[in-house]
Amino acid sequence: MRHIVVIHGPNLNLLGQREPTVYGTVTLAEINQRMQEVADSLGVSVDFFQSNSEGAIIDRLHAAMGRADGVVINPGAYTHYSIALRDAVAAIELPVVEVHLSNIHARESFRSESVIAPVAVGQITGFGPVGYELALRALAAKLS
Ligand code: DQA
Repeated sequence: MRHIVVIHGPNLNLLGQREPTVYGTVTLAEINQRMQEVADSLGVSVDFFQSNSEGAIIDRLHAAMGRADGVVINPGAYTHYSIALRDAVAAIELPVVEVHLSNIHARESFRSESVIAPVAVGQITGFGPVGYELALRALAAKLS
């Protein structure tokens, strides 16, 4: 069975309360629950990780090497400037799908650059919680 690691970056633990006009009212637990259901229906296994710390996210990516088949990640604000995170994504040589709840290209100009996108297999942005489901389906299809 293919195994996919789902990583949620900084401030995403506050989903449901955080800027609901931008990010909606669905909680992280609800997103993970829906992803688990989709994973079950696709016949893949998933595990979930959230951290507000850049180093902890990098450590989780390293831990996926040789143990997971792919990664879905919302790097939060690290998307826009963390070269360390980008280097970790490149280093692990696994397919990584980048997800954003909001459309990063339709917001402040500093959000429209992703340093992760060039080393990801793809980016899904602007579809709210459904984006995670789309990412999981896309990655599972790529791995099949
Ligand atoms: C985000 C977009 C980022 O710009 C922001 O810093 C986040 C959330 C999104 O999911 O839309 O924390 O990654």
